[in-house]
Amino acid sequence: MQLAMIGAGYVGLTTGVCLATLGHDVQIYDSNPDRLGQLMAAKVPIYEPGLEDELRRQISAGRLSFSPLMRRAVANARAVFLAVGTPAAADGSVDLAQIEQAAREVAPHLQNGATIVIKSTVGAGTSRRVREIVAEARGALDISVASNPEFLREGSALQDFMEPDRIVLGYDDPRAGEVLAEIYAPLAEAAPIVHTSTTNAELSKHAANAFLALKIGFVNEVADLCERVGGDIGAVARSIGLDRRIGPDFLKAGPGFGGSCFPKDTRAFAAAGRRHGAPLDLVESVIRRNDHRQATLARRIVTAAGLQEGDDVAILGAAFKADTDDVRESPALRIAGYLIGMGVRLKMHDPKAARNGQRLLPQAGWVDTPYEAAIGAKALVILTEWPQYRQIDLQHLAAAMDGCHLFDYRNLLDRRAVEAAGLVHHRIGTAPRSLHAPITVGLAGRARAG
Ligand code: UDX
Ligand code: UDX
Repeated sequence: MQLAMIGAGYVGLTTGVCLATLGHDVQIYDSNPDRLGQLMAAKVPIYEPGLEDELRRQISAGRLSFSPLMRRAVANARAVFLAVGTPAAADGSVDLAQIEQAAREVAPHLQNGATIVIKSTVGAGTSRRVREIVAEARGALDISVASNPEFLREGSALQDFMEPDRIVLGYDDPRAGEVLAEIYAPLAEAAPIVHTSTTNAELSKHAANAFLALKIGFVNEVADLCERVGGDIGAVARSIGLDRRIGPDFLKAGPGFGGSCFPKDTRAFAAAGRRHGAPLDLVESVIRRNDHRQATLARRIVTAAGLQEGDDVAILGAAFKADTDDVRESPALRIAGYLIGMGVRLKMHDPKAARNGQRLLPQAGWVDTPYEAAIGAKALVILTEWPQYRQIDLQHLAAAMDGCHLFDYRNLLDRRAVEAAGLVHHRIGTAPRSLHAPITVGLAGRARAG
């Protein structure tokens, strides 16, 4: 099927490439000429594993192209996806300016009977509103507007597209349903397809992300309790996660959730609840607790390591999670920002997100290896779960450091290995050793711990 994608951001680009993989003819347009220029040269401006290779394959196969002319991209398309930005408005609700503008722009150029598919995350009722905008722009009601939310995780977006848990197709007229079903027919065996209204599809996206955020917020609160009573969140999370009604995923305690979706989507969902007189108290609470979490952890680091103004601290990780260079609403950068605010000097490392991190936090020193970051550091803090940090040479780190506190805030490292290197291991959701077991650190460790 001939398809067009408006917006070549993270979501539009990944979705456009994957739709070509399914066998469709996809033309992608973006209003940003620099971005489009790069893509036309087959260069992917974001880091997403496998995306650039797949993009090149689809271009070579003749199924994927980039068009600097929006009109040309949409003219023959049976469906036009909108994946433009949907930032937060001041009250947390979804700012629909880009969606509305894109709808107005494409409307006059669509062929009769085409379907606009909203891919960007939007609040309940948006598809219906876009339908009115398009009808007004065309002076006719011949265009369907559908909602097809994405559930792509950065770092595994291609796999999430090809092997989804479900595909949600929201439409209010049967013609749009047929078009969407045809587009996703190659995945019909692989995943359940939910056919529903546009409003339900829009609500499903916000509700899914809010629920996952609740799971993370919950496990972080239980982790705090574990620390007080001599528990271990790893064991507790595993025990509850094996209950099939709860499920094992999204129960990793850490520095709080970040990224371009969870913080924004939970706020938007909560704002919708307030606006429509159906308050989402659980969601409001998880947002508040998550927002405070980074300041709390920064204070914990300063206190536990006895940091003084001017002390050096190493931070490993800037991305909001591993396998991405994305630092939007990254808990790592927020903790780093609080530490700088408290007078600590930072050296930061991230294998992929250093450049983006440096833009937001130029006050920190940015280095190329974890070991450089550790030189002279009174404390070292791991904030992103990059696999290479699991393999880190702890003896090398300890030798470079000037202090002995390792804050493993993604729970990556083995306690015995950390202690064998003479470092004090601070984890999330595990009580300090004195509470639940005799201390058995080696001599070096005891000496360093003072
Ligand atoms: C966006 C939304 O912000 C998110 O909520 C949703 O779930 C998916 O789409 P993302 O792809 O990360 O996420 O957005 P962004 O990186 O802002 O990309 C949007 C692209 O659309 C940009 O490249 C921008 O240049 C382009 N755009 C924007 C247009 O082509 N036309 C416009 O009118 C506006
Ligand atoms: C999320 C959703 O998973 C995806 O379905 C949606 O469409 C877009 O938003 P993404 O933002 O890429 O994807 O990241 P995700 O893997 O969901 O992680 C979000 C945040 O939660 C990260 O900061 C991550 O570190 C944190 N997290 C996740 C935890 O702290 N613990 C967990 O167990 C899982």
